[in-house]
Amino acid sequence: MADDAPGPIRMRGAGYYSEHTTGAKLAIDAAIPLVLAALQRMDLAASATPFGIADYGAADGGTSIALHHTLLAALRARTERAITLTYTDLPHNDFSALFRLLHGLLPGRAALGLADVPGLFTFASGTSFHRQIFPDGTISLGFSATAMHWLSRLPAMLAEHVHAVGAEGGDLAAFRAQAAADWETILLARAHELSVGGRLVFANFCTDANGHYLGWTGGQNMHATFAKHWRGLRDAGAITGEEMRRATFPQFYRTVAEFRAPFDDPGSPVSRAGLRLEECFTRVTKCPYAERFAAGQPGAEFARTYVPTLRSWSETVFSSALDQGRPEAERQDIVDRFYAAYEADVAAAPEGHGMDYVHCFMVIAKDPTAGV
Ligand SMILES: C[S@@+](CC[C@H](N)C(=O)[O-])C[C@H]1O[C@@H](n2cnc3c(N)ncnc32)[C@H](O)[C@@H]1O
Repeated sequence: MADDAPGPIRMRGAGYYSEHTTGAKLAIDAAIPLVLAALQRMDLAASATPFGIADYGAADGGTSIALHHTLLAALRARTERAITLTYTDLPHNDFSALFRLLHGLLPGRAALGLADVPGLFTFASGTSFHRQIFPDGTISLGFSATAMHWLSRLPAMLAEHVHAVGAEGGDLAAFRAQAAADWETILLARAHELSVGGRLVFANFCTDANGHYLGWTGGQNMHATFAKHWRGLRDAGAITGEEMRRATFPQFYRTVAEFRAPFDDPGSPVSRAGLRLEECFTRVTKCPYAERFAAGQPGAEFARTYVPTLRSWSETVFSSALDQGRPEAERQDIVDRFYAAYEADVAAAPEGHGMDYVHCFMVIAKDPTAGV
């Protein structure tokens, strides 16, 4: 996921990602009204070229398929223009699961396919969103959810924590600087791709005004729990200090001020490229697993269903931190022990565990007077 992270980082494949991340889908569903309202503000008849949709960092496509069905229906009601829908992600993503979903070939999810939408052409790209992916002016509506917190490189390795939320001093400054640089790169690439009058709708992980972020909204801190169990393996001699350090997520949860900064400065390269912020707000999506526990589900069952959702997106950070000279079975065993310890922790004292999502929703327009 980070373009030069310690190893190829990816969501678990074969549709596992979207089957185990209900919260991500709920956040995307919350973006549907923003997408539809953005569409309303767009002049669809203005061009004879296809209406280009991009879904940046789409994983297996399962979490955003309902959004695309709704968007495509709204588009078809207003225009007969050809539509392209391109899913992007990193090269190691399970694009095969994505294509099977799109063509209605995933067992139990056949009805979700898009093959029968008239005049729709679907594609995929394995180019990072830290680069320009599409030719200039060919995207009309770009969507991205829960992906741009992944940085293009790991700016520091943490000795006692696994995430920037636990970084301090120079390490924290390095993460902050990398996140600012990447954000500008992401936006400038999109400024090129977007057609004049086009829109971007993003739902990005953030740190909100309460200082809350993914997995910490006042209860047990998910990243601190990851760090505790990874340190536990180190302290037990199961992993080395270097393997501890290498398990640092190349991620950063930007604040609203950090997201807004390139737009609030009229002289910034992003403003000069013609991008204007139309909407920006934060929203917490409650963890559906924790909600089931709160509704009376036994703690052990909560732990058994909740920890796989963490595993679906975090596993490769831990597995690729392990010395690749270790036999595969040994690496698998260490990672299994790690998640088993997390699960036992939750089962023993479930109260306060959960992965609430904290997103910054943004709608961005490409100004008709833009120079790019
Ligand atoms: C948590 S998943 C989100 C998937 C989906 N958008 C959703 O909201 O459910 C994050 C996705 O972003 C992708 N990703 C991370 N860095 C990326 C990059 N530089 N370029 C493209 N995709 C990236 C990951 O591979 C992963 O599939």
